[in-house]
Amino acid sequence: MILAFDIYGTLFEVKISGLKEEILKEWRQLQIEFTWRITLMRKWLNFDEITAIALKYLSSKYGFEFKEELLEAWTKLKPFNDVEYLKILSKKYKIYALTNGTFMSVRKLLKNAGLLQYFNGIFTAEEVKFYKPSLSIYQVFMNKFEGEKIYLVSSNPFDISGAKNAGMKTIYLNRYNLPHDPLADKPDFEIKSLSEIEKLNLN
Ligand code: 2OP
Repeated sequence: MILAFDIYGTLFEVKISGLKEEILKEWRQLQIEFTWRITLMRKWLNFDEITAIALKYLSSKYGFEFKEELLEAWTKLKPFNDVEYLKILSKKYKIYALTNGTFMSVRKLLKNAGLLQYFNGIFTAEEVKFYKPSLSIYQVFMNKFEGEKIYLVSSNPFDISGAKNAGMKTIYLNRYNLPHDPLADKPDFEIKSLSEIEKLNLN
């Protein structure tokens, strides 16, 4: 059985020092909005390019200096405390990243956090050149692991609804106490911590 983990906002907190809280929030929102628009326009820019474009836009909008280290920070994010359970989960499940991020940056992020050892693989939007919640990123992942039982684990409601829409089973890791996503069918499971996964009756 495979647990496919969303990365940003799910395993790692999107917290970057050196930027005001509200600018970081707008950066993250723009980053995700740009992925949706790029996919809807059938264009392709990778996640690092999108992240840099969003930061450049905000640096001119608010008049702060565009610094490369703010981009580098995305490979040094702090994992949430419960992510230590990946050590236990990796003994029972095959662990994959299923993310909009680029392979290089996500690999670096997992390595920097000492978590790469628990992953069987990293599957990114680069493989399909469509971002979440497009059908293809989930369907190509399921086809790649035909015959395996797969659960997406994500704290991003649009990701959960996208996966469900593509026929993938989902575990919603409700970190932010958001109201239920009105576009989403109910997730198969809802948890508050990765420590709860081993008690779930996954089938
Ligand atoms: C991820 O794909 C949705 O940004 C989030 O990791």
